[in-house]
Amino acid sequence: MSSLIGKIKELVVEGFAETKNNREYLHQYPELSFKEFETSKYVHQLLVHYGIPEEDIEVKCDTGIIAHIKGLDPDRKTIALRADLDALPITEANDVPYKSKHEGIMHACGHDAHTACLLGAAKVLNKLKNEFHGTIKLVFQPGEERIPGGASLLLKEGVFKNAPNAIFGQHVYPELPAGKIGIKPGMYMASADEIYITVNGRGGHGALPNKNIDPVLISAHIITSLQQIVSRAANPKVPTVLSIGKVIANGATNIIPDSVTMEGTFRTMNEDWRYQSHELIKRTVKGLAESMGGSAEVDIHVGYPFLENDVELTLKSKEWAIEYLGPDNVVDLDIRMTAEDFAFYTHHMPACFYRLGTQGKAENTKASVHNPHFDIDPESLKVGTGMLSWLAIKSLEE
Ligand code: NI
Repeated sequence: MSSLIGKIKELVVEGFAETKNNREYLHQYPELSFKEFETSKYVHQLLVHYGIPEEDIEVKCDTGIIAHIKGLDPDRKTIALRADLDALPITEANDVPYKSKHEGIMHACGHDAHTACLLGAAKVLNKLKNEFHGTIKLVFQPGEERIPGGASLLLKEGVFKNAPNAIFGQHVYPELPAGKIGIKPGMYMASADEIYITVNGRGGHGALPNKNIDPVLISAHIITSLQQIVSRAANPKVPTVLSIGKVIANGATNIIPDSVTMEGTFRTMNEDWRYQSHELIKRTVKGLAESMGGSAEVDIHVGYPFLENDVELTLKSKEWAIEYLGPDNVVDLDIRMTAEDFAFYTHHMPACFYRLGTQGKAENTKASVHNPHFDIDPESLKVGTGMLSWLAIKSLEE
């Protein structure tokens, strides 16, 4: 074991109680996307407390915090580490001492853990700043959970005008035991776009179908036909998912409504196909509605692009992770069709987004993210803090 790993592990253990406390504090006071004002202040004040000079900390996009830890020869190279700050509109169902105190809001996606780990890493890295060459850019990003995504806003704001040599991000992963991480070079996560459809017909009595134009039946045809985009139009080699998750007809047993609204998601891993499919969705919906005497409007909100980990950086990171955690604790992952706004960074600079195992013995640590029972094994915070610190220094010294 290199002496640097030893030093990092020692500092991580030394700071563990504080990291755990930070996570529990953030968990109690969750804030929704782009409204992370108190979270942002909390992070800012802790960074100052850890000894990062005020002039090296900036507030960006209202609630984002960007800080720089300057090592020896700070202009040599820059490595960015990113955490997200926002919580979800979910009412927490856990009965824990650190239960959310904000009614209807919960850190159910582990962003409290991401932020606590990056705070922990900031403290470790600031103490080790005479042991690395270059600058570490800490990115506490707002609004991961909501389109257009805080990552895209920070990029627009020019936070990455001088693109870092690499950026790392981690995400809690209840499917993996605490102590392990999961990693996947290359294509990893999907693009995600929101589909909003309104089908207009002519409502009336359910017993007099010949007098009406039934938007419910039109919608049924639309839902079925949209699946042909996935099964017939998509290249079978390109992962594609189209799901309609909300259908509101709001008639009654004997009432055909005037209109039906539907909402869904479209996900894939190819940008050309992504935009072609939007046209196909519109054509299918409008064509079907018109052929059945109705009409339809389709609105597609473009969300996050696909997330592609830089192959070289990610393969190296996997080796570094093995050095730090041992070979049994670094797991290969498969692609997944969830989305993440870290994807924006991956289109602008070499990036590596990996998963932090958070499952422990407690039942709640097995609940999936975005579930009101979600919780983490606090032991995972040690790995999360240590990995960020180690990967940052390792890639600077590369
Ligand atoms: Ni998340």
